[in-house]
Amino acid sequence: MTTHAIRFHQTGGPDVLQWETVDVGAPAPGQVRLRHHACGLNYIDTYHRTGLYPVPLPSGIGLEGAGAVEAVGDGVHHLKIGDRVAYAGGPLGGYSEVRLIPADRLVRLPDALSFETGAAMMLQGLTTAYLLRRTYRVKPGDTVLIHAAAGGVGLIACQWAKALGATVIGTVSTDEKAALAKAHGADHVILYSKEAVAPRVRELTGGEGVAVVYDGVGKDTFQASLDSLRPLGMMVSFGNASGSVPAFEPIELTNRGSLFFTRPKLADYTGKRADLEPLAAELFDVVLSGKVKIEVKQTYALKDAAQAHRDLEARKTVGSTVLIP
Ligand SMILES: NC(=O)c1ccc[n+]([C@@H]2O[C@H](COP(=O)([O-])OP(=O)(O)OC[C@H]3O[C@@H](n4cnc5c(N)ncnc54)[C@H](OP(=O)(O)O)[C@@H]3O)[C@@H](O)[C@H]2O)c1
Repeated sequence: MTTHAIRFHQTGGPDVLQWETVDVGAPAPGQVRLRHHACGLNYIDTYHRTGLYPVPLPSGIGLEGAGAVEAVGDGVHHLKIGDRVAYAGGPLGGYSEVRLIPADRLVRLPDALSFETGAAMMLQGLTTAYLLRRTYRVKPGDTVLIHAAAGGVGLIACQWAKALGATVIGTVSTDEKAALAKAHGADHVILYSKEAVAPRVRELTGGEGVAVVYDGVGKDTFQASLDSLRPLGMMVSFGNASGSVPAFEPIELTNRGSLFFTRPKLADYTGKRADLEPLAAELFDVVLSGKVKIEVKQTYALKDAAQAHRDLEARKTVGSTVLIP
Protein backbone atom coordinates (compact mmCIF):
# COMPACT_ATOMS: atom_id res chain seq x y z
CA MET A 1 0.00 0.00 0.00
CA THR A 2 1.31 3.49 -0.84
CA THR A 3 1.09 5.99 1.98
CA HIS A 4 2.98 8.93 3.52
CA ALA A 5 5.43 9.43 6.37
CA ILE A 6 7.89 11.99 7.68
CA ARG A 7 11.46 10.75 7.22
CA PHE A 8 14.96 12.22 7.36
CA HIS A 9 18.11 11.38 5.37
CA GLN A 10 20.59 13.52 7.31
CA THR A 11 20.69 14.97 10.81
CA GLY A 12 20.15 18.68 11.36
CA GLY A 13 17.52 21.34 11.93
CA PRO A 14 13.77 20.87 11.47
CA ASP A 15 14.13 21.29 7.68
CA VAL A 16 15.65 17.81 7.35
CA LEU A 17 12.19 16.39 8.06
CA GLN A 18 10.57 15.42 4.76
CA TRP A 19 7.06 14.32 3.80
CA GLU A 20 7.62 11.21 1.68
CA THR A 21 5.66 8.56 -0.16
CA VAL A 22 6.34 5.14 1.36
CA ASP A 23 5.19 1.59 0.71
CA VAL A 24 3.83 -0.35 3.65
CA GLY A 25 3.54 -4.11 3.17
CA ALA A 26 1.64 -6.83 4.97
CA PRO A 27 2.48 -7.35 8.64
CA ALA A 28 5.16 -9.97 9.37
CA PRO A 29 4.55 -12.56 12.12
CA GLY A 30 4.14 -10.73 15.44
CA GLN A 31 3.33 -7.39 13.76
CA VAL A 32 0.18 -5.44 13.00
CA ARG A 33 -0.46 -2.76 10.40
CA LEU A 34 -1.73 0.31 12.21
CA ARG A 35 -3.55 3.31 10.72
CA HIS A 36 -2.67 6.33 12.86
CA HIS A 37 -5.45 8.78 13.73
CA ALA A 38 -3.01 10.88 15.79
CA CYS A 39 0.77 10.83 16.31
CA GLY A 40 2.62 12.09 19.39
CA LEU A 41 5.29 14.81 19.40
CA ASN A 42 8.03 14.41 22.00
CA TYR A 43 11.27 16.13 22.83
CA ILE A 44 13.20 12.91 22.14
CA ASP A 45 12.18 13.26 18.48
CA THR A 46 14.43 16.34 18.28
CA TYR A 47 17.36 14.33 19.70
CA HIS A 48 16.93 11.76 16.92
CA ARG A 49 16.63 14.50 14.29
CA THR A 50 19.76 16.38 15.45
CA GLY A 51 21.84 13.24 16.01
CA LEU A 52 22.19 13.73 19.79
CA TYR A 53 20.77 10.19 19.95
CA PRO A 54 22.24 8.66 16.73
CA VAL A 55 20.05 6.44 14.52
CA PRO A 56 20.89 4.70 11.21
CA LEU A 57 19.88 6.90 8.24
CA PRO A 58 17.65 7.35 6.35
CA SER A 59 15.10 6.90 9.07
CA GLY A 60 11.52 7.38 10.11
CA ILE A 61 10.92 9.40 13.26
CA GLY A 62 8.47 9.40 16.17
CA LEU A 63 7.81 6.96 18.99
CA GLU A 64 4.14 7.40 19.78
CA GLY A 65 0.73 7.13 18.20
CA ALA A 66 -2.87 6.02 18.43
CA GLY A 67 -5.06 4.49 15.78
CA ALA A 68 -6.88 1.44 14.50
CA VAL A 69 -5.51 -2.00 13.65
CA GLU A 70 -5.83 -2.62 9.89
CA ALA A 71 -4.17 -6.00 9.45
CA VAL A 72 -2.80 -8.62 11.85
CA GLY A 73 0.28 -10.83 11.30
CA ASP A 74 0.59 -14.52 12.19
CA GLY A 75 0.89 -15.28 15.87
CA VAL A 76 -0.86 -12.11 17.08
CA HIS A 77 -3.74 -13.24 19.27
CA HIS A 78 -4.52 -10.28 21.55
CA LEU A 79 -5.54 -7.87 18.77
CA LYS A 80 -7.95 -7.96 15.83
CA ILE A 81 -8.77 -5.71 12.88
CA GLY A 82 -10.57 -2.56 14.03
CA ASP A 83 -9.17 -2.49 17.58
CA ARG A 84 -8.38 0.99 18.93
CA VAL A 85 -4.80 0.99 20.23
CA ALA A 86 -1.98 3.28 21.34
CA TYR A 87 1.75 2.91 22.02
CA ALA A 88 4.94 4.59 23.11
CA GLY A 89 8.41 3.46 22.08
CA GLY A 90 9.27 0.71 19.68
CA PRO A 91 10.95 1.22 16.31
CA LEU A 92 11.03 4.81 14.98
CA GLY A 93 8.24 5.58 12.51
CA GLY A 94 5.46 7.18 14.51
CA TYR A 95 5.18 10.18 12.17
CA SER A 96 3.26 8.23 9.55
CA GLU A 97 -0.21 7.65 8.18
CA VAL A 98 0.14 3.87 8.32
CA ARG A 99 2.91 1.74 9.80
CA LEU A 100 3.93 -1.77 10.75
CA ILE A 101 4.64 -2.24 14.45
CA PRO A 102 5.34 -5.15 16.81
CA ALA A 103 1.98 -6.08 18.34
CA ASP A 104 3.48 -6.46 21.81
CA ARG A 105 4.11 -2.69 21.94
CA LEU A 106 0.39 -1.89 21.60
CA VAL A 107 -2.15 -1.44 24.37
CA ARG A 108 -5.89 -1.10 23.90
CA LEU A 109 -7.07 2.47 24.16
CA PRO A 110 -10.05 2.75 26.55
CA ASP A 111 -13.23 3.79 24.70
CA ALA A 112 -13.53 6.95 26.81
CA LEU A 113 -10.20 8.28 25.46
CA SER A 114 -9.92 9.88 22.02
CA PHE A 115 -7.11 9.03 19.59
CA GLU A 116 -5.70 12.54 20.19
CA THR A 117 -5.58 11.94 23.94
CA GLY A 118 -4.04 8.50 23.37
CA ALA A 119 -1.32 9.90 21.12
CA ALA A 120 -0.64 12.74 23.56
CA MET A 121 -0.48 10.67 26.73
CA MET A 122 1.36 7.43 26.05
CA LEU A 123 5.01 8.53 25.99
CA GLN A 124 4.80 11.47 28.38
CA GLY A 125 2.27 9.66 30.61
CA LEU A 126 4.12 6.34 30.84
CA THR A 127 7.28 8.32 31.54
CA THR A 128 5.55 10.16 34.37
CA ALA A 129 4.15 6.85 35.60
CA TYR A 130 7.54 5.20 35.90
CA LEU A 131 9.25 8.33 37.30
CA LEU A 132 6.67 8.88 40.08
CA ARG A 133 5.67 5.25 40.72
CA ARG A 134 8.84 3.21 40.07
CA THR A 135 12.07 5.26 40.01
CA TYR A 136 11.17 7.17 43.18
CA ARG A 137 7.76 6.32 44.64
CA VAL A 138 6.21 9.66 45.55
CA LYS A 139 4.44 9.52 48.94
CA PRO A 140 2.09 11.84 50.82
CA GLY A 141 4.17 14.47 52.59
CA ASP A 142 7.07 14.45 50.10
CA THR A 143 8.14 17.70 48.53
CA VAL A 144 9.18 17.17 44.90
CA LEU A 145 10.84 19.45 42.35
CA ILE A 146 9.68 19.16 38.72
CA HIS A 147 11.54 21.14 36.04
CA ALA A 148 9.78 22.39 32.88
CA ALA A 149 6.54 22.05 34.82
CA ALA A 150 4.31 23.41 32.02
CA GLY A 151 5.69 21.02 29.38
CA GLY A 152 4.31 17.69 28.22
CA VAL A 153 5.79 15.53 30.97
CA GLY A 154 5.66 18.51 33.35
CA LEU A 155 1.90 19.11 33.34
CA ILE A 156 1.16 15.40 33.78
CA ALA A 157 3.78 15.04 36.51
CA CYS A 158 2.55 18.06 38.51
CA GLN A 159 -1.02 16.74 38.55
CA TRP A 160 -0.02 13.17 39.37
CA ALA A 161 2.45 14.13 42.13
CA LYS A 162 -0.22 16.34 43.68
CA ALA A 163 -2.76 13.50 43.51
CA LEU A 164 -0.23 11.29 45.34
CA GLY A 165 -0.18 13.79 48.21
CA ALA A 166 3.09 15.57 47.49
CA THR A 167 3.88 19.25 47.74
CA VAL A 168 4.94 20.19 44.21
CA ILE A 169 7.52 22.82 43.30
CA GLY A 170 7.71 23.46 39.55
CA THR A 171 10.11 25.50 37.43
CA VAL A 172 9.15 27.31 34.21
CA SER A 173 10.46 30.12 31.99
CA THR A 174 7.47 32.51 31.79
CA ASP A 175 4.60 33.90 33.86
CA GLU A 176 2.03 32.27 31.53
CA LYS A 177 3.66 28.88 32.03
CA ALA A 178 3.74 29.51 35.80
CA ALA A 179 -0.03 30.08 35.82
CA LEU A 180 -0.58 26.90 33.81
CA ALA A 181 1.59 24.80 36.13
CA LYS A 182 -0.26 26.20 39.15
CA ALA A 183 -3.59 25.33 37.57
CA HIS A 184 -2.29 21.75 37.22
CA GLY A 185 -1.11 20.97 40.73
CA ALA A 186 2.07 22.96 41.31
CA ASP A 187 1.95 24.48 44.82
CA HIS A 188 4.90 26.76 44.11
CA VAL A 189 6.45 27.83 40.84
CA ILE A 190 9.96 29.19 40.35
CA LEU A 191 10.75 31.25 37.23
CA TYR A 192 14.17 29.74 36.55
CA SER A 193 14.72 32.31 33.83
CA LYS A 194 14.83 35.02 36.54
CA GLU A 195 15.41 33.41 39.90
CA ALA A 196 18.09 31.06 41.36
CA VAL A 197 16.35 27.75 41.94
CA ALA A 198 18.21 26.12 44.85
CA PRO A 199 18.02 29.04 47.34
CA ARG A 200 14.30 29.41 46.60
CA VAL A 201 13.76 25.67 47.13
CA ARG A 202 15.56 25.91 50.50
CA GLU A 203 13.31 28.81 51.44
CA LEU A 204 10.17 26.89 50.46
CA THR A 205 11.24 23.76 52.35
CA GLY A 206 12.39 25.45 55.57
CA GLY A 207 16.03 24.73 54.65
CA GLU A 208 15.52 20.98 54.24
CA GLY A 209 15.49 20.46 50.46
CA VAL A 210 13.29 18.16 48.37
CA ALA A 211 13.00 14.37 48.43
CA VAL A 212 13.37 14.03 44.67
CA VAL A 213 14.13 16.17 41.62
CA TYR A 214 12.72 15.19 38.23
CA ASP A 215 15.04 16.95 35.79
CA GLY A 216 14.32 16.72 32.06
CA VAL A 217 16.06 20.03 31.30
CA GLY A 218 19.62 18.73 31.76
CA LYS A 219 22.64 21.00 31.35
CA ASP A 220 21.11 24.27 32.58
CA THR A 221 19.45 22.88 35.73
CA PHE A 222 21.73 20.03 36.77
CA GLN A 223 23.72 21.91 39.41
CA ALA A 224 20.64 23.59 40.90
CA SER A 225 18.91 20.22 41.03
CA LEU A 226 21.70 18.66 43.10
CA ASP A 227 21.75 21.73 45.36
CA SER A 228 17.98 21.48 45.96
CA LEU A 229 17.97 17.94 47.42
CA ARG A 230 17.72 16.91 51.05
CA PRO A 231 20.24 14.34 52.37
CA LEU A 232 19.51 10.89 50.87
CA GLY A 233 17.37 12.61 48.24
CA MET A 234 17.15 11.29 44.69
CA MET A 235 18.34 13.10 41.58
CA VAL A 236 16.44 11.78 38.55
CA SER A 237 18.04 13.13 35.38
CA PHE A 238 15.76 12.02 32.56
CA GLY A 239 16.32 14.44 29.69
CA ASN A 240 18.40 17.11 27.97
CA ALA A 241 16.10 19.83 26.64
CA SER A 242 18.87 22.41 27.28
CA GLY A 243 21.76 20.07 26.38
CA SER A 244 23.48 17.04 27.89
CA VAL A 245 24.55 16.99 31.53
CA PRO A 246 28.36 17.31 31.78
CA ALA A 247 30.49 14.70 33.54
CA PHE A 248 30.57 15.05 37.32
CA GLU A 249 32.41 13.49 40.24
CA PRO A 250 30.51 10.98 42.44
CA ILE A 251 31.89 12.82 45.49
CA GLU A 252 29.42 15.63 44.59
CA LEU A 253 26.68 13.24 45.73
CA THR A 254 28.52 12.51 48.99
CA ASN A 255 29.09 16.18 49.74
CA ARG A 256 25.37 16.97 49.50
CA GLY A 257 24.27 14.18 51.84
CA SER A 258 24.73 10.74 50.22
CA LEU A 259 22.39 11.55 47.36
CA PHE A 260 21.12 8.93 44.90
CA PHE A 261 21.53 9.58 41.18
CA THR A 262 19.79 7.84 38.28
CA ARG A 263 19.58 8.48 34.53
CA PRO A 264 16.54 6.39 33.48
CA LYS A 265 14.76 5.81 30.16
CA LEU A 266 11.24 4.62 29.37
CA ALA A 267 12.36 1.59 27.35
CA ASP A 268 13.92 0.00 30.43
CA TYR A 269 10.67 0.33 32.40
CA THR A 270 8.34 -0.88 29.63
CA GLY A 271 10.49 -3.17 27.44
CA LYS A 272 8.80 -6.28 28.84
CA ARG A 273 5.08 -6.72 28.27
CA ALA A 274 4.79 -7.70 31.96
CA ASP A 275 6.08 -4.22 32.91
CA LEU A 276 4.24 -2.25 30.20
CA GLU A 277 0.74 -3.55 31.01
CA PRO A 278 0.55 -2.63 34.73
CA LEU A 279 2.20 0.75 34.10
CA ALA A 280 -0.27 1.56 31.30
CA ALA A 281 -3.13 0.42 33.57
CA GLU A 282 -1.96 2.86 36.28
CA LEU A 283 -1.79 5.64 33.71
CA PHE A 284 -5.25 4.95 32.31
CA ASP A 285 -6.61 4.81 35.88
CA VAL A 286 -5.39 8.28 36.86
CA VAL A 287 -6.58 9.76 33.58
CA LEU A 288 -10.00 8.08 33.57
CA SER A 289 -10.51 9.01 37.24
CA GLY A 290 -9.98 12.67 36.31
CA LYS A 291 -7.00 13.06 38.67
CA VAL A 292 -4.76 13.76 35.67
CA LYS A 293 -6.07 15.67 32.67
CA ILE A 294 -4.16 15.25 29.40
CA GLU A 295 -3.81 18.71 27.93
CA VAL A 296 -3.46 18.63 24.13
CA LYS A 297 -2.49 22.27 23.71
CA GLN A 298 -1.13 22.20 20.14
CA THR A 299 -2.23 20.29 17.05
CA TYR A 300 -0.40 20.29 13.70
CA ALA A 301 -0.96 18.49 10.43
CA LEU A 302 1.51 15.59 10.30
CA LYS A 303 3.11 17.01 7.18
CA ASP A 304 3.93 20.18 9.18
CA ALA A 305 6.07 18.22 11.67
CA ALA A 306 9.05 20.52 10.99
CA GLN A 307 7.07 23.50 12.30
CA ALA A 308 6.07 21.52 15.37
CA HIS A 309 9.77 20.83 16.02
CA ARG A 310 10.62 24.52 15.63
CA ASP A 311 7.98 25.51 18.16
CA LEU A 312 8.93 22.77 20.63
CA GLU A 313 12.61 23.74 20.55
CA ALA A 314 11.74 27.46 20.80
CA ARG A 315 9.83 26.68 24.06
CA LYS A 316 6.60 27.90 22.44
CA THR A 317 4.57 24.79 23.28
CA VAL A 318 2.89 23.92 26.58
CA GLY A 319 1.40 20.61 27.64
CA SER A 320 1.20 17.95 24.94
CA THR A 321 1.21 18.20 21.14
CA VAL A 322 -0.24 15.88 18.51
CA LEU A 323 0.31 15.58 14.76
CA ILE A 324 -2.73 14.64 12.70
CA PRO A 325 -2.20 12.49 9.57
N1 LIG B 1 14.13 9.45 29.87
C1 LIG B 1 12.89 9.25 29.51
O1 LIG B 1 12.35 8.14 29.67
C2 LIG B 1 12.12 10.39 28.92
C3 LIG B 1 10.84 10.18 28.40
C4 LIG B 1 10.09 11.28 27.96
C5 LIG B 1 10.65 12.55 28.00
N2 LIG B 1 11.92 12.70 28.45
C6 LIG B 1 12.54 14.03 28.53
O2 LIG B 1 11.69 14.85 29.30
C7 LIG B 1 11.86 16.20 28.88
C8 LIG B 1 10.50 16.80 28.58
O3 LIG B 1 9.97 16.17 27.42
P1 LIG B 1 8.63 16.68 26.75
O4 LIG B 1 8.46 15.92 25.50
O5 LIG B 1 7.56 16.69 27.76
O6 LIG B 1 9.01 18.20 26.35
P2 LIG B 1 8.46 19.58 26.96
O7 LIG B 1 8.72 19.57 28.45
O8 LIG B 1 7.08 19.78 26.51
O9 LIG B 1 9.38 20.65 26.26
C9 LIG B 1 10.65 20.93 26.77
C10 LIG B 1 10.62 22.08 27.77
O10 LIG B 1 11.90 22.18 28.36
C11 LIG B 1 12.09 23.49 28.79
N3 LIG B 1 13.45 23.95 28.43
C12 LIG B 1 14.39 24.37 29.31
N4 LIG B 1 15.48 24.74 28.67
C13 LIG B 1 15.25 24.59 27.35
C14 LIG B 1 16.01 24.86 26.18
N5 LIG B 1 17.25 25.36 26.24
N6 LIG B 1 15.46 24.59 24.97
C15 LIG B 1 14.21 24.08 24.89
N7 LIG B 1 13.44 23.81 25.97
C16 LIG B 1 13.95 24.07 27.19
C17 LIG B 1 11.01 24.37 28.14
O11 LIG B 1 10.09 24.79 29.15
P3 LIG B 1 10.34 26.25 29.84
O12 LIG B 1 10.15 27.24 28.74
O13 LIG B 1 9.34 26.33 30.92
O14 LIG B 1 11.75 26.20 30.35
C18 LIG B 1 10.36 23.45 27.14
O15 LIG B 1 9.01 23.73 26.94
C19 LIG B 1 12.79 16.17 27.67
O16 LIG B 1 14.11 16.40 28.09
C20 LIG B 1 12.67 14.73 27.20
O17 LIG B 1 13.77 14.29 26.49
C21 LIG B 1 12.65 11.64 28.91
